[in-house]
Amino acid sequence: MNQAEGDNPPLIETFVQQFDAAPIHIAIGPGRVNLIGEHTDYNDGFVLPVALKRDVRLVFRPRADRRVRLHSVEYDETFEFDLDRLAYNKAMLWTNYVQGVAWALQQEGLPLIGLDGVISGNVPRGSGLSSSAALEIASALAFMHAAGQMDALTGPQVAQAAQRAENQFVGVNCGIMDQFISLLGAENHALLIDCRSLGYELVPFPANAALVIGNTKASRSLAGSAYNQRRQECESGVAALHAVLPDITALRDVTSAQLETHHALLDPTVYRRCRHVVSENERVLQTVEALKRGDLARVGEMMNASHESLRNDYEVSSEALDIMVAAMRSAPGCYGARLTGAGFGGCAVALVDPGREQALADAIFEHYPKATNVWPEVYTSRAAQGARVESL
Ligand code: GLA
Repeated sequence: MNQAEGDNPPLIETFVQQFDAAPIHIAIGPGRVNLIGEHTDYNDGFVLPVALKRDVRLVFRPRADRRVRLHSVEYDETFEFDLDRLAYNKAMLWTNYVQGVAWALQQEGLPLIGLDGVISGNVPRGSGLSSSAALEIASALAFMHAAGQMDALTGPQVAQAAQRAENQFVGVNCGIMDQFISLLGAENHALLIDCRSLGYELVPFPANAALVIGNTKASRSLAGSAYNQRRQECESGVAALHAVLPDITALRDVTSAQLETHHALLDPTVYRRCRHVVSENERVLQTVEALKRGDLARVGEMMNASHESLRNDYEVSSEALDIMVAAMRSAPGCYGARLTGAGFGGCAVALVDPGREQALADAIFEHYPKATNVWPEVYTSRAAQGARVESL
């Protein structure tokens, strides 16, 4: 098992090599794991993620002009752009997250200035732990800090700008959860986000519980197209229910009882998609109550029910994820386990008694490779602090 902590000296050294000067600040954007509330954010619903200790770091030095010079340690690539001439780059995809954030912040009216920066991260890429949101949020804070604009926007507004960067500049139709938790997470807390009002509440993460994340290392190639299809299915559910429930604007507004009453109006597949979203919203709120009273068995039940619903009704699990989840649940001290993130591969998360993380990892390493022929990765993490800028 590996737990990543900050490790800035190589970043600073690389900056000096690249730019012949020392960086002044570091912007840090963490990845996230979602405890429960999957595929609810774009339905105006509730989510309950935690920020991870794994993050994307951007050491930077403001410039006097509008040039941005960036170097990525992992890609070993350097890229330069002008804040007045932003353009999608097909060859260096990582640059689009940074450019997109500059575009969105300038659209908000922020007067940005250029910077030199070196980027490095240890959030596994393409694994459903939000490495993209981590890069967007680190970039947003670096640009805002360099321009002396740290107080120009509220936290939710920064998260929305980063989401817009991903939706409109990068071209990925994600919800608000990942950017929001990366920015506003807090140590030893989960964050209940109301994705309609963008109101949020920190929920203390019990000291007698730990999280283990299992990375299936399975390709998520289906994730993009299926994600958009699920969004459309939810929208068509709302459109059909609107005929009898004229006040609803999203599945957030529908109760389980209403859904059952009007079952016949919906295409059977659309009905199951709606049933997942409606029941998942209810599970998030029940999980928050259970966490507050320290009822970890109930939290585990909710996580397990979430996985079944994502597998059977929303159909975003995969064989690899189901095997991972079963391996996790077989370990002593595991309260519950579920896929986390968009699905179709990526990671699963388990809630476990502290001190029994290794036993859970052992169970994964014992069962998962035999069943899949793939060697997984396992991470432990406490709920970590959200994004920040520090002086070097
Ligand atoms: C991805 C998206 C999020 C959210 C999850 C599913 O991580 O980026 O906005 O929709 O999938 O819960």
